[in-house]
Amino acid sequence: MPDELIYLDNHSTTRCDPRVADAMLPFLLDSYGNPHSSTHAAGHAAAAAIDEALRQIAEHLGGAKEEWIITSGATESTNLALLGHCLHPRNRKRHIVTAVTEHPAVLDPIEMLRREGFRVTVLGVDANGQIDEGQFADTLTDDTGIVSLMLANNEIGSLHPLKPLIEIAHQRDIPVHTDATQAVGRVAIDVADLKVDLLSCSAHKFYGPKGVGLLYCRRQGRLTRIQPRLFGGGQQRRVRPGTMNPAAIAGMATALHLCTEGLSAENQRIATLRQRLWEGLVQRIPGLEINGPALDSQSRVAGNLNVMFPGVEGEALMLASPQLAVSSGSACNSLDAVASHVLLGIGRSEPQARSSLRIGIGRFNTVDEIDRAITMLADAYEQMRRFG
Ligand SMILES: Cc1ncc(COP(=O)(O)O)c(C=O)c1O
Repeated sequence: MPDELIYLDNHSTTRCDPRVADAMLPFLLDSYGNPHSSTHAAGHAAAAAIDEALRQIAEHLGGAKEEWIITSGATESTNLALLGHCLHPRNRKRHIVTAVTEHPAVLDPIEMLRREGFRVTVLGVDANGQIDEGQFADTLTDDTGIVSLMLANNEIGSLHPLKPLIEIAHQRDIPVHTDATQAVGRVAIDVADLKVDLLSCSAHKFYGPKGVGLLYCRRQGRLTRIQPRLFGGGQQRRVRPGTMNPAAIAGMATALHLCTEGLSAENQRIATLRQRLWEGLVQRIPGLEINGPALDSQSRVAGNLNVMFPGVEGEALMLASPQLAVSSGSACNSLDAVASHVLLGIGRSEPQARSSLRIGIGRFNTVDEIDRAITMLADAYEQMRRFG
């Protein structure tokens, strides 16, 4: 990372915590056995490390360790959950319910299912990104096979109270998948308490390595059948075959442990940095507006700030502040240069969406960085307004 860069794009990815990297190294350099080699001690050691990591994961996120499937990241998890469930030969229901502000990792596999003949209801949201409970209940039918709703939004940071919606779905025996990619490590999660059936996440969003993630798949009570999407060895009960990566899995478990340890104190610290950033910006930029829930509400993740700069394109502001890493939407959308579907979904117009920036404050950010970010953004904004 260039020395002078201020990294405030922690919804896109986070820096791997050095303690996580330390936990991974032994499995790259010394204990490098294939965890599926049952004929020697090197294999046994790697298998034991994975078992211990799964135990820790279940301890932090709930459920039994056998209910956690290791994947390459949230995109694979959401695809396995949605395609694997809907295309299972014993799941005959053909209606899917989701929401307009979901990530492409959910919307795109659902779109693929729609092309295969599934019927899809995409729920709208209010200005805070929330779904109306009554409207949700009304969309469920006897043919609804799955509901997929995220726990935290990746652009506006809205936290979604899914528990009552899950209860409503369960009353009709409909399983619920949640994309918890932006929630894991940022808020406390217990899959048993939430009663969710399927949950997806990625380690690199919570200071772990890239290329590894989790799919929780409930095995008790309601049966969540998943048809594999990959075929090969017999690993992970054949639901997700392929040689597992002990270093990445140990790193992910360590990352989760570090997040859980000091969660409320860390969230407090990050929320204070966000408040400082907001106050600093709004003092210098008249008409600056927040997209999504109020900063002092409990329904927004601590590090998220999404702001609309009146009369200026977000892309242009970023070009004018090259020492600042922020974004104008999800990292996936930034490949397409389209206005954020999340901001349009909460009722912003296209020009308003294009004038917005997403800022994600994280573990390694400091007060000094926040103060420099205020100066950079406000100077760039003033200059652009002055010289058009
Ligand atoms: C809400 C959400 N879901 C899914 C993903 C996909 O995660 P990954 O790219 O790690 O597969 C992301 C990443 O930006 C995300 O923010």
